[in-house]
Formats: sequence, C-alpha cells, structure tokens
Amino acid sequence: MKSLVVFYTRTGNTKFLAEKIAEELEADIEEIIDKKKRQGKIAWLSAGRDAMKGNKTEIGEITKNPSEYELIAIGTPNWASKPTPAIRTYLGKYDLSGKKVVAFCSSDGYDSGQKVIAELKTMIPNSDSLESLVVEKPLKNKADAENNISEWCNKIKLQ
Ligand SMILES: Cc1cc2nc3c(=O)[nH]c(=O)nc-3n(C[C@H](O)[C@H](O)[C@H](O)COP(=O)(O)O)c2cc1C
Repeated sequence: MKSLVVFYTRTGNTKFLAEKIAEELEADIEEIIDKKKRQGKIAWLSAGRDAMKGNKTEIGEITKNPSEYELIAIGTPNWASKPTPAIRTYLGKYDLSGKKVVAFCSSDGYDSGQKVIAELKTMIPNSDSLESLVVEKPLKNKADAENNISEWCNKIKLQ
C-alpha cells in the first residue's frame, strides 16, 4: 500500500515517531512546517492558546500530494489536549476521503491524549474507527516508543 507519514513537530518527539513509522510502513514522509514562531516562552503560551482556540496557521510548502497515497498516517504533538494548528491547517487543506487514515500523537502524559485523537476524528472523513496511537515522551523512552510503533504498524499492515 502506498503510504505517507505527515507530521508536525516542535521539539522532535513527533518526528522520532514519524521516522520510525515511515521505516516500518516503507512510507514517504512529509514534515509540516509552521511559519509562526513557536520557540521561546511567549511563543509557548501563544501555541497553547492557538491550539485551544482551534486556530489555523500558515504552513510551509507541501511537497507530497496526499491524493497519490492509499494510507496516510497523521502525527501531531498534544497541545493543550488539542491537535496543533499546523496539522489542523493541513487537514483543512486536503480532502482525505477514500483514504485509509491513521493518527499518532506524542505527549508529556498530563492527559491521555484521547481528546487530541477525538478532535482529529472530526477533521478526517470516515474516521469512526480511526486507528490511533498516543506515545508519552518518545525521546525519553526511545526503546519503548519504538516497540509501541512496531506493534502498531504490524496491526495496521494486517488490516
Ligand atoms: C503549547 C503546548 C501545550 C502542551 N500541552 C500538553 C498537554 O495538554 N498534555 C500533554 O500531555 N502534553 C502537552 N504538551 C507537551 C507535548 O505534547 C510533548 O512534549 C510532545 O511530545 C512534544 O512533541 P514535539 O517534540 O514533536 O514537538 C504541550 C506542549 C506545548 C508546546
């Protein structure tokens, strides 16, 4: 199945997951760039506020056309129990109807991350039984994260 991993990362955790998923699924990979400044204390606060309000943002150029793929894995960090503005923007731009879509999320474990997944479902067509994975602090627990990803990808491959 021709597969694409699409992700946003601010500090590398979601990228770590995305790269492992791409390896497991032999997928192409697209990193979404948020053009708004997201580093530093003030930017951290506005990031949380943007996520909570469901704001979109300006994103960098998209290099892979999702319509050419059958399976698309969408990855976002958990920001205030919401998907990031960059991923919200991407999902607003592309119609993924007819695709098999799965979602992954990295978090610090303040909450289960299920609200992020629930919100992603509202942006992805036919996602009632969306296959999803939340991983806590992937860069701090790399081996565990890799094992979780391998198991998850095996499940996806069997479907
Ligand atoms: C603005 C902001 C809000 C966050 N809110 C949450 C949260 O509600 N729950 C949580 O578990 N982690 C939260 N985090 C932590 C990130 O989800 C976590 O560090 C994630 O792994 C970062 O992914 P990244 O390295 O790919 O950017 C938040 C981080 C930021 C920057």
